Amino acid sequence: MALLKSCKLFPAVSSFSPCMTLLPSRASSWWSHVEMGPPDPILGVTEAFKRDTNPKKMNLGVGAYRDDSGKPFVLSSVRKAEAAMAAKKLDKEYLPIAGLAEFNKASAALALGETSEVLKSGRNITVQSISGTGSLRVGANFLQRFYKYSQDVYLPKPSWGNHTPIFRDAGLALKAYRYYDPSTCGFDFAGALDDISKIPEQSIILFHACAHNPTGVDPRPEQWKEIAAVVKKRNLFPFFDMAYQGFASGDIDRDAWAVRYFIEQGINIVLAQSYAKNMGLYGERVGAFSVVCNDADEAKRVESQLKILIRPMYSNPPLTGARIAASLMTNPELRAEWLQEVKGMANRIISMREQLVSNLKKEGSIHNWQHITDQIGMFCFTGLKPDQVERLTKEFSIYLTKDGRISVAGVCSSNVAYLAHAIHQVTK
Ligand code: LMR
Repeated sequence: MALLKSCKLFPAVSSFSPCMTLLPSRASSWWSHVEMGPPDPILGVTEAFKRDTNPKKMNLGVGAYRDDSGKPFVLSSVRKAEAAMAAKKLDKEYLPIAGLAEFNKASAALALGETSEVLKSGRNITVQSISGTGSLRVGANFLQRFYKYSQDVYLPKPSWGNHTPIFRDAGLALKAYRYYDPSTCGFDFAGALDDISKIPEQSIILFHACAHNPTGVDPRPEQWKEIAAVVKKRNLFPFFDMAYQGFASGDIDRDAWAVRYFIEQGINIVLAQSYAKNMGLYGERVGAFSVVCNDADEAKRVESQLKILIRPMYSNPPLTGARIAASLMTNPELRAEWLQEVKGMANRIISMREQLVSNLKKEGSIHNWQHITDQIGMFCFTGLKPDQVERLTKEFSIYLTKDGRISVAGVCSSNVAYLAHAIHQVTK
């Protein structure tokens, strides 16, 4: 624009030396070394889906809940909270660096349980952050700066695709422990326990609190108990990622069981929470990061440093989503409605899993698809190979991540048969 203006001002320049030839050679030189990066393995799938014109196309890539007509779903409890907020004509002032106090308090109680000893003794600090990713990143940066015992983070193999860049970009070193057994499409308990027992003492270990992403495979409570015992023995430092509380079983307390059990065992954890899925607040970017400390004084000191870390990152978190989430957690009527809706979403996903398996049988598939119903949460790790995934996309316009993960939340009554048909075609 500035250059065009200058051409008008100096017509002589534009007549013998066209602006358009000057522009690229000067302006583009700063970034000529920048190479084209690959699309995001998860969000890039949505971009490809949007370009497809096939009316039968399905987006089973990103984990975003759809209702049974395949439409994005805004919870009725959320709509009510929004209406109540609008009626109050609230201001839009900045939140404090650590976010909305009532949201933080309610978040900690949701994760740790209302009667948690940690809350009573005030030895946790919980800060509002920018959904799951932002909370993980604040946590990763905090560990990078203050966890002086190790800079190694052990992730389950596989883990959510974004975990690696989050921890790597925060300056930590990525390691892995066995988690998924491709031969059973289930949890490799022996492998996980064996690997965890060999992790160097004081290393950081990441756990998915429930509804493991991408596999949908969670340890059972008795397995968590053994894992916690090894973590304690090896003096490892657990980082829990709880992005799906309520989405696995439909029950928020049941889904927080592992987190609470570890704390009961005297293990001081850090925790990232997201409200994208369980409140459907995807684009509102609502989440929280908590540190369970030894005592209230330590928690205060940790809080002060978290604030120093957050301030230059994004100053303070966004307001509206936190207000909605706080209302859903603290208003008894809204809370009851919200919990019913969480159950409804979880149940619809379970029913889609069952329908997918029965449709595969109807198609005549002779494979064992039991893992589709055994796995829980939003995702199913189908076991489809990359070439089969490619065929699903190319021949049937069904979009999923290359690792064969499908977001079951994107399947509905009207397209489950089409999906089963397509899967059968590429696996028979
Ligand atoms: C997913 O795994 O699809 C979700 O967690 C969304 C995301 O940001 O990747």
